[in-house]
Amino acid sequence: MEQKVTVPEIVKAKASGRPIVALTAYDFPFARIADEAGVDLVLVGDSLGMVVQGGDTTLPVTMDEMVYHTRMVARARRRALVVADLPFLSYQVSATDAVANAGRLVKEGGAEAVKLEGGCAVAATIERIASVDIPVMGHIGLTPQSVHRMGGHKVQGRRRGQAPGQRERLIEDALAVEAAGAFAIVLEGIPCDLAAELTKRLAIPTIGIGAGIDCNGQILVLHDVLGLGERTPPRFAKRYADLWSAAREAIGAYSNDVRGGVFPTAAHSFQALATVTPLDGGAAPAARPVREAAKA
Ligand code: KIV
Repeated sequence: MEQKVTVPEIVKAKASGRPIVALTAYDFPFARIADEAGVDLVLVGDSLGMVVQGGDTTLPVTMDEMVYHTRMVARARRRALVVADLPFLSYQVSATDAVANAGRLVKEGGAEAVKLEGGCAVAATIERIASVDIPVMGHIGLTPQSVHRMGGHKVQGRRRGQAPGQRERLIEDALAVEAAGAFAIVLEGIPCDLAAELTKRLAIPTIGIGAGIDCNGQILVLHDVLGLGERTPPRFAKRYADLWSAAREAIGAYSNDVRGGVFPTAAHSFQALATVTPLDGGAAPAARPVREAAKA
């Protein structure tokens, strides 16, 4: 996949055995960095409600916010496929709303596909969105929009049974998502043997997060990977950097420089190009930095 990653390329990756690398991003700089680093799929996740907005859940995230963040990410796209999340209640009320909102993410945001959470209950909605040629990615298991039903962000599928979040129900959910026309499915927070079974049974690629090694790809939340969160990341995430500390140190050093009178130096300041002699022959005003002079 050296060329632009497309939906068919993601689907083909399963057959070729090439692991799909996916990561969330919410703005231009980090989306560009992820793209440059070779990530295949950038997800504008509604996790932005937690890692960017500082909320406890993803539930308050609005369509307008998703469109805004998707637009920033889409501008940064060169190679990666950009997928955007449909936030809570943007697709559950009616399939008509769902198509219109998915359309906004594509038309106004520049996404190439959308993701929504749920299984059997949203299969008809997936079918409607896919019927207007908007590719849909499913998401089952620990679905953060179901936080209140789950009683927290808890691992699902540990118990056998047909109730929501139980093993046999999750299998049924995954099959329903595939039958409805999703091109890929996120498996979040489920036992690895269940993820392995689903990966074997489904023709579409599985992208895991807290679902073990046997998925066709992996996705993580950017802030967990970069150590950009104040909170301890979930156990399934791996931190590859500590940008929180790096940023705090850099901003601390800047503050010390300003307070200590060592920033700005002459190298960061401007001088007038030539001395201006006032018309009345008086002393010329002292040269001022350009930004200040421009305000006068
Ligand atoms: O919102 C999100 O970031 C997600 C990923 C964790 C899969 O749905």
